[in-house]
This record gives sequence, structure tokens and C-alpha cells, in this order.
Amino acid sequence: MKNTVTTIQEQKMMKDKITMLTAYDYSTAKRMDEAGINSILVGDSLGMVMLGYEDTLSVTMEDMIHHAAAVARGCENALIVVDMPFMSYQTSVYDAVNNAGRLMKEGRANAVKLEGGEKVCPQIKAIVDASIPVVAHLGLMPQSVNAFGGFKVQGRDEEAARKLLLDAKAVEAAGAFAVVLECVPYKLASLISQSIRIPTIGIGAGAGCDGQVLVYQDMLAMFSGFRPKFVKCFSNVGEVMTVAFKQYIEETKAGTFPGEEHTFQIADEIIEKLY
Ligand code: KIV
Repeated sequence: MKNTVTTIQEQKMMKDKITMLTAYDYSTAKRMDEAGINSILVGDSLGMVMLGYEDTLSVTMEDMIHHAAAVARGCENALIVVDMPFMSYQTSVYDAVNNAGRLMKEGRANAVKLEGGEKVCPQIKAIVDASIPVVAHLGLMPQSVNAFGGFKVQGRDEEAARKLLLDAKAVEAAGAFAVVLECVPYKLASLISQSIRIPTIGIGAGAGCDGQVLVYQDMLAMFSGFRPKFVKCFSNVGEVMTVAFKQYIEETKAGTFPGEEHTFQIADEIIEKLY
């Protein structure tokens, strides 16, 4: 069954947790879709995990469209949400609608996601008015890493917690159909989830959210470096890859790969004629 904005919202009412993972390419998206994921996020985290940047700021509209279109070709049922990159919507309402439209037309997104609360509500409203569904993103907003002074848990004191709650209500009123809560204390994320009608999708925000999202390279332990506290490693694919790469190198150098079973045959008399 195709997941839609409506089915995702119904899941909140039915208390059926929403599952979302990031993907950036055709074959990974196809596997997730076949596994039954509700939604795939083509996150601007691709700047870090696919392109090797230190943050998401350098990601362009062209990067997002290129990866979104690949993911869309791999999906039958998952709802495809695509991130609006840094400076594609902050600059004006016109830019926001124009760029959201490009992600739908060229990237084949089903919805777009953008970071921010009250401040970006004019953009959210205008995009929704153009019939483009919007997911909001609150808490740790990686595009604001310089303003935040690093990647930190958000909403810990009373003022910040109240602001987060008000922002969640504001994006709901502006027309967002769901909101991602990133690095928000568990009890605050649970309170926000109970205080708004649209689903909350948490990352580092605890089990009280209406759904969860993870970056797939994180949950498959594909990086050997820093792993945030909220990431659970569901399989050590990184280690499996390294072992396979080393074995390939060894067997190629030893001449044991390719074997007979991996090669194509030709009649000996044809070869003899070539000498
Ligand atoms: O870009 C991304 O992957 C995200 C998730 C962390 C929610 O926004």
C-alpha cells in the first residue's frame, strides 16, 4: 500500500509508529521500500554521509534533486520526503515555493522538509498553499550549526523548552503535516507529541514520539568514527564491508579471483587460430 500524507497522519491516530530512514540512492531505497518502511527521507545529511562535507551547509538544490530522483526510482510504497537545502527557503517565500516545486517536479518528492519554527511559517504556509506537503524540523537544526555553536541537545531550559513547544504549535498551524524533533529531551518531545495533532518523528528524542527516523549509515555502523548517543547499531554492515573489501584485495592479488565459475568460455580451436 502506498504511504501518503493521509496514511502517515492516520498512523498517529491509530498509535501505529511511523518508520522513516534516510536514503540517498536507488538500490538502498529499493531495499528499504521492499522491507516495508513508511517513509524515506532524502536528507541534506547526504552532504556529510555521501559527499564527505563536515556539515550540511554546502549541499545544493542540484545535489538534492539528483539523489531524490534516484531514490524515487527505487520506491513503490514509501512516502518520499526531500530536504530543502540551506538557503533554498530562508531567503524568501518566493524562493521557498520555487525550490519546493523543483524538488517535486525534478526530484519526484512527495513532500519537502525544512528547518525552523515560527520564523519559517510564512514559507511553510506558502508551500502548502502550492499543494506541496511540508514536514517541519525542530530542535537541533543542523543548518543552524553555526548559530547554535555546535551539534547540541536543544530545549533543556524552561525558556528553550517553551519556545520549542510554541514552534511546534506554530508549524502545525502553518500547515505542516508532520514535524521532525531532533535531539530534544525525551519528556519534552513526549509533551510536544501529545500537544499537537500532527505526527512527531523523533531522532534523539525518545520513544514518546509518533515515529522515528535514523540516518541509515548510522544504524548500520558504516562509520568507524563518532556515533551519537541516540544511534542504535542494528547491524555492523561497516565491518562486513571492510572484511569483504580486504578479502577481494587478497584474492585478486593471489590470483584466486576470478575463479573458473566467474569466467566466460570460448572453443579452443578458435583460440588456436589466433596464435
Ligand atoms: O538530513 C537528515 O538526515 C535529517 C535527519 C537527521 C532527520 O534531517
